[in-house]
Amino acid sequence: MSKTIIVSNRLPIKITEDENGYALQPSEGGLATGLASIHAQGDNSWIGWPGISIDDPQQQAYFTSTLQEKRLIPLFLDEDEIKGFYEGFSNEVLWPIFHYFPNFANYNLQNWETYVRVNQKFLELILQVAEPDDTIWVHDYQLLLLPGMLRKALPDASIGFFQHIPFPSQELFRLIPWRKELLEGILGADLLGFHTFDDVRHFISSATRLIGTNNNANRLEVEGRAVFVEPFPMGIDSKRFADLSQAEAVTNRVAELRSNFGGQKIILSIDRLDYSKGIIQRLEAFELFLRENPAFHKEVTLYMIVVPSRDMVPHYRELKDHIDRLVGHINAQYGAYDWYPVAYFYHGYPMSEIAALYNVADVCLVTPMRDGMNLVSKEYIACRKDATGVLILSEMAGAAKELIDAIIVNPNNIHDTRDALLAALNMPMAEMKKRMKSMQAIVFKFTVQHWATLFMNRLQEIKNEQSTTKAR
Ligand code: G6P
Repeated sequence: MSKTIIVSNRLPIKITEDENGYALQPSEGGLATGLASIHAQGDNSWIGWPGISIDDPQQQAYFTSTLQEKRLIPLFLDEDEIKGFYEGFSNEVLWPIFHYFPNFANYNLQNWETYVRVNQKFLELILQVAEPDDTIWVHDYQLLLLPGMLRKALPDASIGFFQHIPFPSQELFRLIPWRKELLEGILGADLLGFHTFDDVRHFISSATRLIGTNNNANRLEVEGRAVFVEPFPMGIDSKRFADLSQAEAVTNRVAELRSNFGGQKIILSIDRLDYSKGIIQRLEAFELFLRENPAFHKEVTLYMIVVPSRDMVPHYRELKDHIDRLVGHINAQYGAYDWYPVAYFYHGYPMSEIAALYNVADVCLVTPMRDGMNLVSKEYIACRKDATGVLILSEMAGAAKELIDAIIVNPNNIHDTRDALLAALNMPMAEMKKRMKSMQAIVFKFTVQHWATLFMNRLQEIKNEQSTTKAR
C-alpha cells in the first residue's frame, strides 16, 4: 500500500524557545488544517523544518522521536543554512522576484549553493522513508529544486508540487541567474498547482521560452514525461472560523472591544510584516482619507496588526521603521487627546483574538501589492455570521479572482483606496449583506479541505493514466 509524504519548508508544528525552555506550538497559516485529513491517513507523514536552529544532536534526537508520534519528521537547519537557504535565497531572491519587486533581489552565489544543498538535504531525509511508488506532495518556493531531485531518485513516484505565492511573468522570472535550474527542478513533478489561471499561464510561458518545453495547452512534455500545470485556488477552514467567531470567549471579547471603541467604525488591517502587503500605501490612503474627510475624525479607527516576520532580512527591517514613522506621523497630525486614528500593534495574536477583531471590523482593508491568494480576506468573510461588513480587496491578490463582490482596488492608486473607504463606510445595509452573502457562498464551498482533495484526486488521476499508458 503506497503512502503520501507531505513536504514543506515549515512543519505544521514549530519548536519555540523561551526562558522556560523549549515548547511545541502550532505554526501559523492554514496549511496545517488543510492537509490535516491527508496527513491523518494510514502511514502518511509530513517532513519540514521546525522553525528553530538546534545544534545539539541529543536535543535533535529527542524532538525527532517526540514529533514522530505525530508522524511529523523534522529537518534541522543550522544557522548558515537558515541564512543562505531561507533568508538569503528563498526570501531575498525568489520572494521579491515572484512578488514583482526585482530591485529588492540580491543574487548571491553562495546563497544559491546553500539553497541547492538544503533542497538536497530534504531529498535525503525523504529517501529514508519513501518507497518507490509513494506519492510526494512538495509545497512552495523554498523547495523548487526538490521535485527534480526526487524524480531522479524515485522515477516511479507520483510527485505533486503546489506553489503558494504568485508565479511571475516570464519577464520577471528570467532575471534570476539560476532560472533554468529552477524550472528543471519544478518540472520533476507530475502535477504543478498554482492559485490562479494567470500563474499557470506565466509558468507555462517561462517553461516554453526559457527551456523550450513543448506544450499542448496546460500539458508540458518533459523528457518524454507529461507534466500538467493547473489552477487550484486555495480556501480556508471556513467552518472553524465561523464556529470560533461564535465561541463564548470570542463574543465576550467582541463586546469588550466594541465598548472600548464606543460607536466608532473599525477598519481592520492584518498582515505579516512584508513589503508585498502594501502596508505603506494603505497608510497613505488612510491619511488621504482623513485629510479630506474631517467629518470622520473620531468616528473611525484603523486597527492595524503587523505580525513580525523575517526581520533578519534587511528590506523587512527597513519596512518596519517606515511603518513606525508613518503611523507616528498620522497619529501626531490627526490625533486628539481622546483619539488615535491608527491603533497599531506589532505582535502575533492567537486565532481567537483575530476572530474577535474580524467580528468587530466594519471594514476589512486588504491591499497587497501582490499576493498569491490572501487568506485574511476569506477569514474575514467566514467570521461575519450576520453578513454585515465590507471587504476592500486589492486586484493584485489571487482572492480577487473569486471574491468579486468585494470593493476591488488597485493598491498603487491611493485615491482609489480612499474612495473605497468612503464607499465602504457609507454602504447601505442591503447592499452590504447582498455582497457579503455571495462571497460567503464561495468561501464556505471552496474550503481548504476541498482544495486538498481536488489536488490529490487529480494527482491520482494522472498516476492512473500513466500506469495505463505504461501497461499498453
Ligand atoms: C507565505 C508562504 C509560506 C510561508 C509563510 C510564512 O504564506 O507562502 O511558504 O511559510 O508565508 O512565512 P515564513 O517565512 O515565516 O515561513
